[in-house]
Amino acid sequence: MCVSCCISSANNDNCSIRRTFGSANETPSRACSACHAALVQFLRYHTHEFENGEYTYQIFAGKDVKEDDIRKAEHPILVGNCTAKFRDLAPFCKGCPPIPSEVTKTIKGEAGLKLTYLGHSCFLIQSKEYTLIIDPFLTGNALAAVKADDVKATHMLISHAHSDHMGDADSIAERNQSVIFCTPETGALLSCPHAKQENGQPGGSIRTDFGAIKFLAANHGSGAPGGVACGFLITIEEKKIYFAGDTSLIPDMAQLCDEHVDVALLPIGDRFTMGPEDAMRAAQMIQPKQVVPMHYNTFPFIVQDPQQFKRMTEEQTHIPVTVLEPGASLTL
Ligand code: NI
Ligand code: MN
Repeated sequence: MCVSCCISSANNDNCSIRRTFGSANETPSRACSACHAALVQFLRYHTHEFENGEYTYQIFAGKDVKEDDIRKAEHPILVGNCTAKFRDLAPFCKGCPPIPSEVTKTIKGEAGLKLTYLGHSCFLIQSKEYTLIIDPFLTGNALAAVKADDVKATHMLISHAHSDHMGDADSIAERNQSVIFCTPETGALLSCPHAKQENGQPGGSIRTDFGAIKFLAANHGSGAPGGVACGFLITIEEKKIYFAGDTSLIPDMAQLCDEHVDVALLPIGDRFTMGPEDAMRAAQMIQPKQVVPMHYNTFPFIVQDPQQFKRMTEEQTHIPVTVLEPGASLTL
């Protein structure tokens, strides 16, 4: 069976998937044979999941894909590593060749990284293989979206030793035997012998199975004698997530502009950290693709209106702000 037959028969079957290799005028043979094979498989076994769907998706694969064609498509999907350079323009399924069921997930928006807000400064970052929890504080947090006992985490990041950032660190890390990233001073306060610690200090990077964790400066009390508070730049699945931790607006943030951060998690609570206006200035300096506010409304001292922060920041910086209710997620 030739590939173009496969495409047209898929269309004739009233399937809402259509694809082009390169621009519409180019022959399908421009995509490598591995991508061809994967897409043929995808069309054979997975397109039924999109029958009578709302949209017609246009799948782009191969080296000759052109930016203009992606921009013209109504629902473009990028498949295969050859198209990775356009991944900011459309949902992207990596692989050489891609796994057909992953193409399905990409189209459904189920692939990639999931970032879930658990309340205060606590987030989960989930990839297919790994779950990272940042600053676990769930017990005693009225806004917490889950119970500490229900959290599964392969890795844990702790920005500093205040109880609203590591209250549940011991129990979660011990039960999951998580790998913990923290300063040695914060680490010295933990008691979870079955967890493994990876210690670092601001400026230092640690390579990991999923990518890397870079410790960054934060201007805040550490809660650990002799130690400092820190932020993190997390690289996972080729995405970059900046977690500011508890901090004031600091000039170091401007250097993150070169990192092309996908999402910046910024405190807006004021009093103990940046307030909304400084968080907006931080966004301006960092230029992330989007901002998620954190560290607000957990206690009376840090009550803020995140929607007001969103309006102000989007108006003045044109950087999108996503306000996540505790328990809500976004896909990166
Ligand atoms: Ni703190
Ligand atoms: Mn705090």
